[in-house]
Amino acid sequence: MARSDLVKALLRNHQRGDDAGFQRAAKELIDDERRKRHDLVAEQLEAILEEPGRTRRPLQVSSLRPLPKTRDDLPLISLEESRLSFQDLVLAESAVEVFDSLVDEFRQRSALRAHGVSPRSSLLLVGPPGCGKSASAEAVAGQLGLPIAKVQLATVVSSYLGETARNLEQIFSFLDVGSWVLVFDEFDMLGRERSDRADHGELRRVVAAMLQVVDDHRGDSLFVATSNHPALLDTAVWRRFDEIIEIEAPDHSARYEILELKLRSVRHDFDICDAATKMGEFSAAEVEAVALDAIRLMVRQLDKCVNSEHIAYAISRGEARRQIIQRSLA
Ligand SMILES: Nc1ncnc2c1ncn2[C@@H]1O[C@H](COP(=O)(O)OP(=O)(O)OP(=O)(O)O)[C@@H](O)[C@H]1O
Ligand SMILES: [Mg+2]
Repeated sequence: MARSDLVKALLRNHQRGDDAGFQRAAKELIDDERRKRHDLVAEQLEAILEEPGRTRRPLQVSSLRPLPKTRDDLPLISLEESRLSFQDLVLAESAVEVFDSLVDEFRQRSALRAHGVSPRSSLLLVGPPGCGKSASAEAVAGQLGLPIAKVQLATVVSSYLGETARNLEQIFSFLDVGSWVLVFDEFDMLGRERSDRADHGELRRVVAAMLQVVDDHRGDSLFVATSNHPALLDTAVWRRFDEIIEIEAPDHSARYEILELKLRSVRHDFDICDAATKMGEFSAAEVEAVALDAIRLMVRQLDKCVNSEHIAYAISRGEARRQIIQRSLA
């Protein structure tokens, strides 16, 4: 990439909050300096890039209420800053419309409440793996400028009788002590727990109580649950959510757009339409991996532009990964 294009990519990605794109452009700039034998400048740039503060870190929570914890003092949630917005995702128009309306309602919650109506504040995202459920939850937080409170599932599900229920209660009492987007990924695990475990009766009661909390919730937080096994959630659970959005697997045109989006910071010269066709059933995350692999190969080969050879190699790697996963699951 020409130097001026690199600087443009750097600024554009910074402006958009695209950390991965920013890092890529910065690394390319450093490589460019090295190629020109400007080793000192390259080293200085590298040092700046590695300074603390560049990467996404958990928020400093010392000024907030203490995080909910297990009896063994393990945190049940982590607080993070969102770096995504809906501009970073390729989603069906119908899904984007619902997300937009939720974001609008949340912003106008006081006006709504003045009319005796509460904003929708609990959302269930369903759909196949790697197609943007967690990323959409993060984008909602990003759009609202709220931190994400991520439920730590491995810590929540305890092997001690009654503890999972207690952990859930702790998490939900946290909804009201601030303003965040509480994200509960793999929410169906609770459904699974309920039928598999000795204490499923109690867990059932807690999940119901927890959803009641969400129902009655009039605070300043949003609750977003995600699941790729929604069949494991019973109808009582489905019913409790204010809104349910299906995030579908990308079709050809979405794969095209995702590839283009993920290559926005590098020069590229190949038939994107053909590449999208060759990626057949790839999920959004797999398309993203293809774009990143192609950029890696371009850099390794000291090329200036992602070409059809790079992309063909990246797609073949993607195919190989899919086959390994499919064989392992068979
Ligand atoms: N629709 C999309 N548009 C652009 N990028 C996407 C999209 N969906 C996923 N990605 C990319 O793939 C990564 C993985 O997506 P994400 O974690 O949101 O998938 P998921 O649906 O939550 O999957 P899982 O069910 O496995 O949890 C994201 O970080 C994002 O970079
Ligand atoms: Mg997810």
